[in-house]
Order: sequence, then structure tokens, then C-alpha cells
Amino acid sequence: MNSSSNQSLTPGFFKALYQANPDPWNFKTSAYEAQKYAATIAALVKPRYRSAFEIGGSIGILTEQLADRCEAILSIDVSDIAQSQAIQRCQHLPQVRFQLMCVPEAFPSEQFDLVVLSEVGYYWCPQDLSKAQQQILDHLEPKGHLLLVHWIVDAEVLPLTGDQVHESFLSLPDLRHLGGDRTEQYRLDLFERV
Ligand SMILES: C[S@@+](CC[C@H](N)C(=O)[O-])C[C@H]1O[C@@H](n2cnc3c(N)ncnc32)[C@H](O)[C@@H]1O
Repeated sequence: MNSSSNQSLTPGFFKALYQANPDPWNFKTSAYEAQKYAATIAALVKPRYRSAFEIGGSIGILTEQLADRCEAILSIDVSDIAQSQAIQRCQHLPQVRFQLMCVPEAFPSEQFDLVVLSEVGYYWCPQDLSKAQQQILDHLEPKGHLLLVHWIVDAEVLPLTGDQVHESFLSLPDLRHLGGDRTEQYRLDLFERV
């Protein structure tokens, strides 16, 4: 555990964050984020994916880039302020669908061949991480890919560190690790459902 909190950060936390600033992590302007998004897309080893699920799509910058590689994407977030910006950004992309959803309280019923979890896992407490992992496994088709990307600098306010999130997925027997990368600030790992 990173801090004494054993509760996931709530939708209300993210609502307040986006109310105070519609782009709280400067996704639109940050050179660091742009480089990380390029590395994220480059890590996808299949040229095309049939149906992707993006957890915590925020304002849709990564969503828009993922759309180039996917026949269909469902992007979900807990924040309507974030998602309305994503809808606007991706309005030229008919393959992208949006839904307000809090994982693991809810999860789509369909099967995916790609799940993207970028900068979301450390907001979950260990119990919710474990529930989300089971949901991801249940809805990732055999040979489907899971891409994880997380900031690895320790932040006391988060329930888990990025490394704890990745190590936890690495311990799951139903996932085969295909490869990864680690910079000073973030870590990226790609898995295949066995
Ligand atoms: C740091 S942003 C990451 C955005 C994007 N994935 C990226 O990598 O640029 C985290 C997003 O996850 C959303 N989020 C946090 N907890 C969530 C949950 N339990 N279910 C769905 N979305 C969540 C937040 O509202 C926020 O928009």
C-alpha cells in the first residue's frame, strides 16, 4: 500500500478536479504526455484491433490516437466534464463510443481484443484493483491485448503506486507478458490473454 487509504478515489474527487480545471494534467499541451502517448501507440504490436476498451479516457487525447488503430473503441470515464471534451474531440471518429462508467462498480458486457488502462490503476484500492483485474480478464478475448501505462513516481495521496499496479498484473497467470518499457517517470507493459 502506498498510503493508509484503502479506498479508491471517488467519482466526486475527479468531478471536483475537472470543475477546477478542465484539463488538470495538461494533456493538451504537455510535451511529456505527447511523448508518452506516442510510446503508448507504438507499443501496440497488432496493426489493427477489432474492439478496444479504454478505461478512464479523460478528455480524449489518447482516445483519438487509439482510434487510428481500432475498428471500434468504447471509452469510459467517471467525469462528464472530461467526457464531453472527449466527445467533442472525437466527433469526426464514428468508431468511438463513450459512456460514463466507474470501473469496477460497472463493466461493459461485451468482449474486447484490446483493453487500455493508462494512468488509472493507482486510483483503485487493492480490492478494487483485484475486482477490475478479474473483469478485464473476463472480457478480454483469448490472444487479446492489455496495455498498461502508469506514472511511477511515488505520490503519497494515491492508494497504489504505478509499480504496484503493474506488478500485480504481472503476477496473474492468465496474462502473458509481451514486453514493456520503463523511463524515469512512467512504465508501460503489454500483455496477451492466454
Ligand atoms: C490521469 S487521467 C488519465 C487519462 C488517460 N487515460 C491518459 O492516459 O491520458 C485518469 C482518468 O481516469 C478517470 N477515472 C478515475 N477513476 C476511474 C474509474 N474508477 N473508472 C473510470 N474512470 C476513472 C478520471 O476521471 C480521469 O479522467
